Amino acid sequence: NDAQRGDYAHFMEKEIFEQPAALENTMRGRFAADGSTTQFGGLNLSADELRQVDRLLLCACGTAWHACLVAKHLIERFAGLPVEVDYASEFRYRNAPLSPRTLCVVMSQSGETIDTLAALREAQRKGHRVLAITNVVGSTIAREADGGIYQHAGPEIGVASTKAFTSQLLVGAMLALHLARLRSLSFNDGADYVAALRAVPQLVRQALEQAPHIAQIAARYVQAADMLFLGRLALFPIALEGALKLKEISYIHAEGYPAAELKHGPIALISEACPSVFFVTRGELFSKVLSSMQEVKARRGKIIAICTTGLELPADLADEVIRIPDCHEAVLPIVATIPVQLLSYYMARELGCDVDKPRNLAKSVTVE
Ligand code: G6P
Repeated sequence: NDAQRGDYAHFMEKEIFEQPAALENTMRGRFAADGSTTQFGGLNLSADELRQVDRLLLCACGTAWHACLVAKHLIERFAGLPVEVDYASEFRYRNAPLSPRTLCVVMSQSGETIDTLAALREAQRKGHRVLAITNVVGSTIAREADGGIYQHAGPEIGVASTKAFTSQLLVGAMLALHLARLRSLSFNDGADYVAALRAVPQLVRQALEQAPHIAQIAARYVQAADMLFLGRLALFPIALEGALKLKEISYIHAEGYPAAELKHGPIALISEACPSVFFVTRGELFSKVLSSMQEVKARRGKIIAICTTGLELPADLADEVIRIPDCHEAVLPIVATIPVQLLSYYMARELGCDVDKPRNLAKSVTVE
């Protein structure tokens, strides 16, 4: 096992740096010849059947649930289909009314999570076809689903999911494009989207170059008692994921919020002992995110800004700035994930934590 780790201190570190290759593998063979959409061999649904779908239900647990939230954003935005995201553990018990043309999709890295399997069975019992997005070929969920998409991210050993998460984000983005091109998305917008997906491995490589800078930042913040992660729209789930990673492996309490929700509660936590990580990108919400940052600054909270290149931040607003390449909306969540993975990894390492085997957690939860 140690041999497979190579020169890396932990599997988690290895898997973070493997992401360009994992994403390449996730995309291999998935683009249609016309260059404007994706193709999947295993959906077992015709184009006509997919056009009949009028809403989606996505179910998962943990990190995969965050990936579903990003997929919801992209499917609604590009395909115009309403999407509901549920915790598999809640769906199986809550008797959700599902309209007949709802397509159910479960997402699970391992394909063995018992709650996700139970959600799949519950949806099938009610007469729905269920697709599975999973990383493990031949897993129970893959076998029981009516069709699906394999991630092909390669085996993931670190308990805290990294490359499997970004590959789930990529599959979600590809599925959103697929559904969009069967509806109203134009050829040209589809071609731009495909070009953006193809560029992902290179963009992730660029984001990974910030690793030494992020390691220095991590060392300055390990004394934090709590930490907030704040993002908007498709980056809100990445804020949740950043907070989850940090809690899982460093045991520092962290929460993710949409930045505008700060004033409705989490702002009460702000102090010098509670730094905030903000995702800052261009667009209509840029100035709103800046004003959330100002609210934190006014309360002497430290700010780590994860900011796309080319954006100018007002002087002295952020204590630390981590740059990520600017890119298409469908791939930005993938690129923005890299710095929060690295930040939590280096903080946990600095604290001497057992990064690959955090206390109380299991890689795959097969009991309820
Ligand atoms: C466990 C793991 C998490 C994972 C979750 C769902 O809690 O520790 O990293 O996100 O299960 O796992 P799955 O294999 O279904 O994606």
